[in-house]
Amino acid sequence: MKTLAIFGASGKTGQLLTEQALKRGFAVRALCRNRSSITLQHPQLNILEGALTLENCREVMKGCDAVLCVLGQRPSAMQPFCADATAMILQAMAAQDVKRIVCLTGAMVGDHNADARSWFIRQMVKLFLRQAPEVALDRSLQESHIAQSLTEWTLVKPPRLTDAPARTQYQMGESVRVTAFSSIPRADVAECMLNCLESTSAYKKFLVVKA
Ligand SMILES: NC(=O)c1ccc[n+]([C@@H]2O[C@H](COP(=O)([O-])OP(=O)(O)OC[C@H]3O[C@@H](n4cnc5c(N)ncnc54)[C@H](OP(=O)(O)O)[C@@H]3O)[C@@H](O)[C@H]2O)c1
Repeated sequence: MKTLAIFGASGKTGQLLTEQALKRGFAVRALCRNRSSITLQHPQLNILEGALTLENCREVMKGCDAVLCVLGQRPSAMQPFCADATAMILQAMAAQDVKRIVCLTGAMVGDHNADARSWFIRQMVKLFLRQAPEVALDRSLQESHIAQSLTEWTLVKPPRLTDAPARTQYQMGESVRVTAFSSIPRADVAECMLNCLESTSAYKKFLVVKA
């Protein structure tokens, strides 16, 4: 059985991802700030409660084959943290000899898929850069850390996330067009991340995914 370390398992996408990973037969180790925020119970789910420190990242990765990262800033928190957290996760991966990481960012992050953005989305990106430059920079830096790492990485970049039920149908690619109407259920993002995990064709790619 393969073991996954999940960062962000207490979040909306993280809970679905954890549930789906366990259903697929993976064992899951999750680091979270508050154990009670993960209600799921399963014999193959191991939760480590604690802050995102290098020591805790290393601890949670013990015996893991791959990392899934679905961390994201809570609306109530102003302090960007994703780039630093990701740098720490990558450092812990090197220390524990874990090579594979699939990380979720967003279709408006960075400029790798800029040509596939509609005019409206390009205006949204400009607004995002003006209104929250430190958050935009944080997520862009997060992607750079991963893309420059020596890991076998995949960046999954959805547009607007919804809580709709899974459709198990999505488009994924490096130049998938994103418009004002693009969205995807979190459940499908979770499925997509798990599908990417074992697909070598997803290595070292920025993949936009939408319903
Ligand atoms: N919302 C959208 O429409 C949209 C669109 C595209 C991409 N995305 C991205 O998709 C990802 C998942 O989104 P989501 O809505 O499922 O996320 P979410 O429910 O907000 O979950 C965020 C996760 O990050 C953790 N986290 C937040 N701040 C932290 C900190 N300072 N230290 C440690 N952990 C921290 C949370 O832990 P706690 O439970 O402890 O707070 C939680 O597990 C995010 O990266 C988001 O930016 C979102």
